[in-house]
Amino acid sequence: MKIKAPVYYGDYLQLPKILNAQDTESGKDGKEAHEETLFIIIHQAYELWFKQILHEIDSIRTIMEKPFIPSTDLAVINRRLERVTKIQDLLVDQINIMETMTSLDFMEFRDYLVPASGFQSLQFRLIEASLGIKAHHRMEVEKQFFNSRLKPEDKKTLEATEAKTSMLELIEAWLSRMPFSKFEGFDFWGDYSAAVKSMLENDKKIISTNPSLDDRVRGMELANLEMTRKSFDTLLDPASFNAWKSEGKVHLSQKAMLSAVFIYLYRDYPALQMPFKVLNNLTEVDEKFTTWRYRHAIMVQRILGTKIGTGGSSGHEYLRSTTERNRAFIDLFNLATFLIPKSMRPKLPDNITNQLDIVYDSLRP
Ligand code: HEM
Repeated sequence: MKIKAPVYYGDYLQLPKILNAQDTESGKDGKEAHEETLFIIIHQAYELWFKQILHEIDSIRTIMEKPFIPSTDLAVINRRLERVTKIQDLLVDQINIMETMTSLDFMEFRDYLVPASGFQSLQFRLIEASLGIKAHHRMEVEKQFFNSRLKPEDKKTLEATEAKTSMLELIEAWLSRMPFSKFEGFDFWGDYSAAVKSMLENDKKIISTNPSLDDRVRGMELANLEMTRKSFDTLLDPASFNAWKSEGKVHLSQKAMLSAVFIYLYRDYPALQMPFKVLNNLTEVDEKFTTWRYRHAIMVQRILGTKIGTGGSSGHEYLRSTTERNRAFIDLFNLATFLIPKSMRPKLPDNITNQLDIVYDSLRP
C-alpha cells in the first residue's frame, strides 16, 4: 500500500459538499420558511438511500445475468435483497418525520417549488425500471406526466435503464430454465391436477352442505369456487395462460410460474430453500414499496387534501392509483392462488427427492 496523507473524517465523507447543499428557495427570496430545511433534508436522505438500493439491485442483476446461478450466489442475492428491505423499512418510517410538518407549514414555501416534484426523482424511476416497471406498463397520463417533466439527460438515463433486462425478466428467465415444469417419467402436474380436483370437490361439499348459507350466498360462493377452478385450469393450459399474459393479467411465462409453484410447494427441500428465499424476498421488496407508496399517498392527502401536486397531477388520487398498479412482482403474490395444502401435495419419487435433498457424502447411511 502506498503511503498517503491520513484520511480525515469530513473529507472522506465529503461532508462540506453534503452539508452545504440545503439552500432553501424561501431563503433565497428573503422569506426563510423554517420547515423547508426539513423538506430538503428528508428528500436528500431518501435519494441517498435510493442510491444504495440501486447499488444493490444493479449488483443482483449482474449476478442474475449468468446462465447458471450457483446456490452460493443465491445466498449473496438474498443477503442484498434483505438489506434492501431493511432500507425500505427506514424509508417508510421517515414519512413519520415528514408528517411533523403540517399543511400550513408547507404552504409557506410550496409555491416556490412549482413545477419541481417527486415525479422528477430519476433514481425512484430507475429503481422502478430496474425491478420491472417500465414505460409500457404505465397509464398514458402517467407516462406523459413524468416524461415531460424530466430533463433530457435524465430521460436518456431512464431510457437506457429501461432498455436493460429488468429483475423481473431475469427472474422469469431463471425460473423458466428450471426443470420443474416437466419431469422425465413422472407426471407431476397430472398428480397436482388430481390433488387440486379433490381439494375443490371438498370445498364444494363444504359450501353445499353449510346450513348457515341461504341459496343466494351459496350460489355466489359456488360461482367464486368455479372461478378458482378456472384459474387452476389456466395455469396448466399453455394457450389459456398465454392469453392471460397478453391481457396483462400475468407477467411471468407459464414455465416460470409452474417452477415458482413447485418451489413454493416443496420449499423445505434444501435445493429449493434458497430459490424460495429469493422469491419471498422479492415479494417483500414489492410489498414494502407498495406500503411506501400508500403511506406517501396518505401523507399527501393529509398535507394537500384534494389540491393538485406541484408536478401537476391530481395529487392524492393519482398516487393512490399508482399504489395498486405499479407492482413489479404481483405474480408472486398471486402465486398463492395455486397452492394446495401440504398434506395434499403429490408424493415425489425417490429419484427427484434425492436431487432436492443435500446430504454430505460421509453422512449417507
Ligand atoms: C410534504 C411532503 C410531500 C408532498 C406534499 C408530496 C406530494 C407529492 C405529489 C402531489 C406527487 C404527485 C406528483 C405531483 O403532482 O407533484 C408526488 C409524487 C412523488 N413523490 Fe412526493 N410529496 C412529499 C414528500 C415526498 C418525499 C419525502 C419523497 C421522497 C423521495 C417523495 C417522493 C415522491 C415520488 C418518488 C413521487 C412520484 C411517485 C409516482 O409517480 O408514482 N415525496 N409527491
